[in-house]
Amino acid sequence: MGYTIAIAGKGGTGKTTLAGLIVRILKEKKLGSILAVDADPNSNLAEFLGTPPKETIGSILDDVASHLDKIPTGMSKDRFIDYRIQTAIQEQEGFDVLTMGKPEGPGCYCFVNNVLRGIVSKLIKDYDFVVIDNEAGLEHLSRRTTREADTLLVVSDPTAAGLRAAQRIYNLAQELNIKTKKNLLIINRSNTTPKNMVKELDFLGNIAEDADIQKFSLNGHSLLDLKNDNSALEGLRSLGDKIWH
Ligand SMILES: Nc1ncnc2c1ncn2[C@@H]1O[C@H](COP(=O)(O)OP(=O)(O)O)[C@@H](O)[C@H]1O
Ligand SMILES: [Mg+2]
Repeated sequence: MGYTIAIAGKGGTGKTTLAGLIVRILKEKKLGSILAVDADPNSNLAEFLGTPPKETIGSILDDVASHLDKIPTGMSKDRFIDYRIQTAIQEQEGFDVLTMGKPEGPGCYCFVNNVLRGIVSKLIKDYDFVVIDNEAGLEHLSRRTTREADTLLVVSDPTAAGLRAAQRIYNLAQELNIKTKKNLLIINRSNTTPKNMVKELDFLGNIAEDADIQKFSLNGHSLLDLKNDNSALEGLRSLGDKIWH
């Protein structure tokens, strides 16, 4: 079974950035095979890792639904969807990426979630590490895409409102009975350590505001191209062992 790291937090706190940096560090450390899962319907993890997805679970579901004739004779629709998703996993140097995306049009994307949940629970067996970048609104957690995780890593800013959001995420994970072994908090983009933390979350440390990270995301550059001595990367390296051990 792979070691699962589920990253959560309110929008804009830096979940995707930290997910990308964690993938980079795990890859550098050569600790084993890695699957990065972009479980945010407004996906950008693959892009942060240098390769925007050609296909997502959402786009595959759309395609299958509108071209039922493409399903090979003798194959069930579900098996065909599974097969298509397997082929949509992007194989990069040192890690793979699977992107959830969303189906076209308005309405619920529960079905994409269900498909993602099913596929992730199968894929967890094939990788040593699974890093899941969850969406801000926690729809995932509430629809139980991530039913268990070795580490729940909550990302927050140092404000009282940010920490309240972090607390809500932890509470929701508990209410939903999501089994976690470690519950961690990182304060991102700031060196301020608030006095009143979330008591149920172990405070790991701060990742400072880093000008290059900001520049890279503005220009659409891959986090894999950040300099090796980048301050956020170094910061995360020093906290890392507590995240994946
Ligand atoms: N440590 C950091 N230093 C500077 N900018 C950061 C840092 N962490 C995240 N950012 C920037 O903040 C913005 C939001 O980050 P992102 O990872 O997309 O957040 P989320 O996935 O939580 O919505 C991006 O422009 C990103 O480059
Ligand atoms: Mg994000």
